[in-house]
Amino acid sequence: MSSLSVNHLLGIKYITKADIELILETAKNFKEVINRPIKKVPSLRDITIANLFFENSTRTKLSFELAQKRLSADTINFAASSSSVKKGETLVDTVNNILAMKVDMVVMRHAHPGASVFLAKKVKAKIINAGDGAHEHPTQALLDAFSIQENLGSIKGKKIVIVGDILHSRVALSNIFCLQKLGAEVMVCGPQTLLPKYIESLGVKVELNLKKALNWCDAANMLRIQLERQDIKFFPSLREYTMMYGLNMEMLDSLSKRILIMHPGPINRGIEITSEVADSDQSIILDQVENGVAVRMAVMFLLAGRMN
Ligand code: CP
Repeated sequence: MSSLSVNHLLGIKYITKADIELILETAKNFKEVINRPIKKVPSLRDITIANLFFENSTRTKLSFELAQKRLSADTINFAASSSSVKKGETLVDTVNNILAMKVDMVVMRHAHPGASVFLAKKVKAKIINAGDGAHEHPTQALLDAFSIQENLGSIKGKKIVIVGDILHSRVALSNIFCLQKLGAEVMVCGPQTLLPKYIESLGVKVELNLKKALNWCDAANMLRIQLERQDIKFFPSLREYTMMYGLNMEMLDSLSKRILIMHPGPINRGIEITSEVADSDQSIILDQVENGVAVRMAVMFLLAGRMN
């Protein structure tokens, strides 16, 4: 297969296993490109991309911007905090005004679940979801899958645990869909209050004990507690969360096997993971960030291939 089955990347839920495999295979080529002395290719020379960030971001925003530069695309950047959204403009009006400037592709982060699905129905440009509330973060899941594959050789049959605030995490949902489509076994681990009631219906294992979960897995994806999305208390205190679900070196060294440690960022050092673990040789956190550029290059390149 040489083209995607979709016109937009709205979520992993909406793409096929073949789409994911095509993106990961294409990303391998782009990873080679970004490690050359001359890191730039002309693949998107005539394409204009708008980066619309209605919610804060460091990694995703910079990674998309860098990926666009490496592909020679023209880009414009929009931050909601300094825009006319503050004066009451709607999402569709904002985007249509941007599209009137002849934009081909929109990368959007938004606090509302489903914002990019809504936009894709309203505007002509290709839409890439860069994170929509607690719904999906498809490029994060793709770069996580790429990083697991790179480090473990394959994903099929591997055991991956996602630890922490599953309830508020778009990374968790996209990872579950992506890893399952690629044939991995997925477990979630965290306090019962941070596990959605429907979670078992997604076909994942559930484990409340961190040590048991870590002894089961080949890789652990340690999530951040999303305090900004919590309007009630889900656990007594951060200190108690860390005592039950924080990963430290003592715990890591006590496991029956060597596992990979992942984190989508931003890290709350000393809460879900200690600095020693984050910076240890079992951590692939910075590999994930590097791979994010190659994976996003692949996504934009393949979506541009469906432009006619
Ligand atoms: N992983 C991730 O989405 O990080 P940012 O919020 O910094 O983009």
